[in-house]
Amino acid sequence: MKAMVLTRYGSPKDLRLQEVAKPEPRDHEVMVKVRATTVNDYDWALVRGKPRVYRLIFGLVRPRVKVLGAEVSGTVEATGRDVRGFEPGDHVYGDVSETGFGGFAEYVCTHERALTRKPPDMAFEQAAALPHASMLALQGLVDVGRIRPGERVLINGAGGGVGMIGVQIAKQFGAEVTGVDRDFKLEALRSIGFDHVIDYQRDDFTRGGQRYDLILDTKTTRSPFRYLKALNPGGRYVTVGGDLPRLLQFLCLKPLISATTKKALRIVVLKPNKDLDYVNDLFEKSGLKFLIDGPYPLEDVAQAIQRFGDAGHIGKIVITIAD
Ligand SMILES: NC(=O)c1ccc[n+]([C@@H]2O[C@H](COP(=O)([O-])OP(=O)(O)OC[C@H]3O[C@@H](n4cnc5c(N)ncnc54)[C@H](OP(=O)(O)O)[C@@H]3O)[C@@H](O)[C@H]2O)c1
Repeated sequence: MKAMVLTRYGSPKDLRLQEVAKPEPRDHEVMVKVRATTVNDYDWALVRGKPRVYRLIFGLVRPRVKVLGAEVSGTVEATGRDVRGFEPGDHVYGDVSETGFGGFAEYVCTHERALTRKPPDMAFEQAAALPHASMLALQGLVDVGRIRPGERVLINGAGGGVGMIGVQIAKQFGAEVTGVDRDFKLEALRSIGFDHVIDYQRDDFTRGGQRYDLILDTKTTRSPFRYLKALNPGGRYVTVGGDLPRLLQFLCLKPLISATTKKALRIVVLKPNKDLDYVNDLFEKSGLKFLIDGPYPLEDVAQAIQRFGDAGHIGKIVITIAD
């Protein structure tokens, strides 16, 4: 089969489209014929081996993961002998980052717990765009952020996958939602439901005087104290990602902030695929709007990862794999 193979840390240019052996499903695994996959922060980090701390997990000198790609949608081709939930022909999708990656290939074998059934009306390109970002958004807003009806919510770094789905989850709670990102993404943000948008290169929302009940951040570029200033009493700041030193600072200050203010700092540790049924339900009952950059063919994965690194995308960068 064809796969985009990573042989060393360097840059997206080091990826090679190669013929490799088709994987065989182990007992609890499902073999999926990949129809669509996406580019994520993981891919950008792993092709470069940066931040370097990732190398402790993914290989000190050389990457242990040879085929990247954290989200897939496709058709079940075969199942291991202990798989109970799926059979050949099923249309599925899921986040395979915890079960070995492998989306940038014609076939991937992954544990059945990483997959869920795709609603019939959801396109493969849409399904691939959902699992990672939707679980970060859902866990950030609902499980960790404890969003309440009618709250004023801000999503910082709203122009990627988390913002795309996060606004639509927040709207289910009747929230008034503000999105913060770069100027050329703001019109698209309005089109998927953001009530207000802020260009972070022109305005700093932590200095604008507006206060929020819940802030969901995908970037975490400021000190915790700046974010606290932008929260109402009882407000929660929830980060899903950012620079490691910043996140460590948040981790250390969390208890102190809770003890001395009426506000909270929280960090999301992603539980992949935990509530994809909720997302399927949302799609089927309310419909979902998508911002898809692409789709691009498998041959163009390197350029697509570079595009992610250069932040030229709006929403999710999707790769489709031809028959
Ligand atoms: N918590 C966990 O367990 C876990 C697991 C996996 C991934 N993650 C993290 O979750 C996040 C995923 O979010 P995503 O997929 O939506 O990311 P994304 O596609 O990279 O989108 C982030 C957006 O933020 C914008 N941005 C950059 N700098 C900004 C700033 N200073 N202020 C406001 N916006 C800014 C970017 O645009 P420009 O760059 O063009 O400005 C981009 O549109 C990543 O941070 C990832 O590392 C967390």
